[in-house]
Amino acid sequence: MDTHTSYEQIFENNRQWVASKIASDANFLEKLSGDQTPEYLYIGCSDSRVPANEIMGLEPGEVFVHRNVANLVCSIDLNVMSVINYAVRHLKVKYVIVCGHYNCGGVKAAMQAKDLGILNPWLRNIRDVYRLHKDELNAITDEHERYNRLVELNVQEQCVNVIKLASVQQEFIVSGYPRVYGWVFDLKTGLLKDLKLDFDKILHDIQEIYDLTSGE
Ligand code: CO
Repeated sequence: MDTHTSYEQIFENNRQWVASKIASDANFLEKLSGDQTPEYLYIGCSDSRVPANEIMGLEPGEVFVHRNVANLVCSIDLNVMSVINYAVRHLKVKYVIVCGHYNCGGVKAAMQAKDLGILNPWLRNIRDVYRLHKDELNAITDEHERYNRLVELNVQEQCVNVIKLASVQQEFIVSGYPRVYGWVFDLKTGLLKDLKLDFDKILHDIQEIYDLTSGE
């Protein structure tokens, strides 16, 4: 992709964006500066080709977004934990989405058996997903297919990590929300694929070990 936009052009784009938003909705700025009440929390990859709002067709105010390399939900990452806690306990989002994407550089890097420096502890989370699903993955002979499947399994395991959280389990008991969904974005078609994970079953299964519903 070689669409390089100049730095100065960004501010011109911004002015045009404001003008077009106001043209289609005279109250746009009034709504934008009011309280946010998004129903969706989106946790995705930082990859520049996967813009959350745009692929979901959602307007400002409709989706709370967290992005990091390879859309990981790691229990000692204060950043993602703060985002989820705020979204679930305060914004009361109804849908928590973990969205990965095929051709994810983070997942590809994790498949390489080599020292990647500062990335090692981060990508370890993906290597752990590989270890959990080693039999299924090793049975896939085509390397590209195996890589795509790891992208999907990584999303699945990050969804499980979301469901392990006390905030998610406790809010769900009270209100029936949030529910957690796993998606993969396909860069070649531009389409989102719902992995159709069974939220109720995952919640039930993990609560044998990770039941945090009883509070302190
Ligand atoms: Co990625």
